[in-house]
Amino acid sequence: MDINKVIIPAAGLGTRFLPYSKSVPKEMLPLLNKPAIHYIVQEAFESGIKHLSLVTNRSKHSIEDYFDTSPELSHILKDLGEKNLLNDIEKIIRSIDFTSVRQHEMMGLGHALWLARHSIGKEYCGVMLPDDIIFSKQPALAQLIRIARQEKASIIAVQEVPADCLSSYGVVTIKKQITPHLLQISSIIEKPDQKDAPSNLAVIGRYVLSHKIFNALDQMTTYSVGEELQLSDAINNMIQNNEKVFAYKVQGIRYDIGTPIGWIKAVIGSALQDPQYGPHIQRFIDDLGTSESFLFNQSKNIQHTV
Ligand code: G1P
Repeated sequence: MDINKVIIPAAGLGTRFLPYSKSVPKEMLPLLNKPAIHYIVQEAFESGIKHLSLVTNRSKHSIEDYFDTSPELSHILKDLGEKNLLNDIEKIIRSIDFTSVRQHEMMGLGHALWLARHSIGKEYCGVMLPDDIIFSKQPALAQLIRIARQEKASIIAVQEVPADCLSSYGVVTIKKQITPHLLQISSIIEKPDQKDAPSNLAVIGRYVLSHKIFNALDQMTTYSVGEELQLSDAINNMIQNNEKVFAYKVQGIRYDIGTPIGWIKAVIGSALQDPQYGPHIQRFIDDLGTSESFLFNQSKNIQHTV
C-alpha cells in the first residue's frame, strides 16, 4: 500500500498571532533557526513522503519561497565556504515534489483538503496540521503510516488530554479497543463541551486517510460549526459509509504552536533538547530561580554568546 503523498493545510489567518501574522505567515514563526513548517515537512520527509501539497492563501507566498531553491544565496554561500548552512533545506527540496493550491475564502479545514484532492488520486494520503509540532524518535506520521498499512484503513493520531482542554479538540468515540495504543472509533465530536466529551482522546494534527475522504467532502452539503466544512464531519461521514477508522496514540512530545503560549513552550522545549543551545538555556532557567537573576538584579549581564 503506497502512502507517499501528504497535504498540509496552511491557509489559516493566524489571528492569535496578530499583528505578527499580518505580513508573515504564522507557519514561518521560528523554532530555533528554522521556521515551524520546516519541522512538519522534515517529519513528512523522514516518513517517506515524496509528494506534498500545500494549501495556502494569497498572503503566504513566503512558505512557497522557503521550499524553493535560492541560487543567488547558494552562490554567495559557496564563495564564503558556508554552503552547508542550506544542507537541510536543500535535501528536502531535492527529495520532495511540492505543489501548492490557494484557498480563496476561509471555508474550513475540510474545504482546504478538498482543494488538494486532484493531487491525490485513489490512494491513502497523509494530512499534517502545521499547528502541531511533534518531536519523536519515529516520526509521528511514520507511526500512522505503519498502522495504516497493517490495518489497511484510515488512522488518526490522538493523545490523552486533561478534561478541561477537550473542548479545544476533536474528541473520538471509542468503538473497540484493539491494543493499548490502537482503537477503532465510531465518530469524532468536534470541540465538545467538557461534559459531552465521549473520551479523553483528542485528535492531534496527523491523519492517514483513504481517498474516500474526498467523496465524503464532495457529498457534504451542510456546513457545520462556524459555517466551515469540518474534516471531522467528513471522517464521520466515511465511518457511516462503512469505512473502518482507527485512532492511534502516537508516541512523542507534542507542542500546539497555534497560540503564543504554545509557541513559547515549543521554543523553550526545543532549545532545551538541542545539544548546542540546551546547556545555555538550562543555565539561564536555573538562574531565574536565584536572587542573582536579572529579574531581581537589573545590573546583571545576560550571557548571549553560544
Ligand atoms: C483541528 C481539528 C481538530 C483537532 C485539532 C488538533 O482543529 O479540527 O479535530 O483536534 O485541529 O490541533 P483546529 O485546532 O484547527 O480548530
